[in-house]
Amino acid sequence: MTTSTALNPPQRLLCGPGPSNVSPAALAAMQQPMLGHLDPDLHEILSEVVALQRAAYRADGGLVLPLQATGTSGMEAGLANLIEPGDVAIVAVCGFFGARIVEIARRHGARVVEVQAELGEHVPNDRLLEALDRHPDARLLAVVHAETSTGIEHPLAELGAELGADRDVLLMADCVTSLAGVPLNFDAWRIDYGYSCTQKCLGAPPGLSPVAVSERALERIRSRRAPVPFSFDLLALERYWTERPAVYHHTAPILQIYALHEALREVVIEGLPERWERHERAGRFLQDTLRARDLELLADPERQLAPLTAVHVPEGVDGKRVQQRMLREHGIEIGGGLGPTAPPIWRIGLMGVNATLEVAERVIEALDAVLATEPVLASAA
Ligand SMILES: Cc1ncc(COP(=O)(O)O)c(C=O)c1O
Repeated sequence: MTTSTALNPPQRLLCGPGPSNVSPAALAAMQQPMLGHLDPDLHEILSEVVALQRAAYRADGGLVLPLQATGTSGMEAGLANLIEPGDVAIVAVCGFFGARIVEIARRHGARVVEVQAELGEHVPNDRLLEALDRHPDARLLAVVHAETSTGIEHPLAELGAELGADRDVLLMADCVTSLAGVPLNFDAWRIDYGYSCTQKCLGAPPGLSPVAVSERALERIRSRRAPVPFSFDLLALERYWTERPAVYHHTAPILQIYALHEALREVVIEGLPERWERHERAGRFLQDTLRARDLELLADPERQLAPLTAVHVPEGVDGKRVQQRMLREHGIEIGGGLGPTAPPIWRIGLMGVNATLEVAERVIEALDAVLATEPVLASAA
């Protein structure tokens, strides 16, 4: 093995389900001088990150911080803190990530009630409320706001409104593909625990999981009988992120935090409604153009997410080969189906800096060029 060549990865246009391309400002932030994790100057930056993240989630109360984690660990941290062995958790499952919540909740000892929908559909809120009526002792209700495996957006605002303030159940929302990409209002929608990632609509590199925790969820955590895993101890993390002098918990990923700071600052400067609108315009343009080419989309059009579009691979076309050619010949990454039960689909993401009409056009032009020269398998011809 030779070690004489410096790293030189190729340029890509990342239009799969994530990661998306990092915003130039977030990338540049990672070149700033390193500070120590107990340096008071870093702690000022941490406080700014928390304030910016509160704005992105629209979460004024409770606890808001980024975990040293990816989206999956943000999911697991929520389940580890909010569930105790034997608790009933109701989980909406209409794709890969709802199923992942089920698996992790079970590993933390939950008795899980799954409420399922077909791929490309969402789980209607009245079915979730019926499940709650059947299991009034449920401690947690979990939904994926933006199901990246299918392109479905859950009607989360309505769920919060229908749940009302009186029920004791906590509402957990996977906001991995929704934060800073589609309308989300943590406080107004009665969410108790939201988790996200940095590498999708925020436009920062992967590695952190911005979370928001309601006051009600914090009370639940404070009254737990069973301890939580040390790395996911939200109350201990709070002492590092918000108490001064900060109490050491782990060595914070400083450069990732700089990148998140800049990515969040860009969100606030652009304005949340404007950013949601930009994602909406790009996604709808892509979807209309694909439909105009007789390509079928997987998701129910009523619930189609803007930042992620799942497209059925036309019969007779080798979907994997098309993905490889998009990458090799055009430098564009698009995704395929996720998990063993996924149908043959492509998943196209327009997230963060890539949520523009220009990027959508580049993807369509490349797809047109590849499909025009792809052999159609004999069985479908
Ligand atoms: C909806 C959703 N939840 C959770 C995750 C897991 O995030 P990560 O891959 O950062 O662990 C993803 C990743 O794509 C996702 O799309």
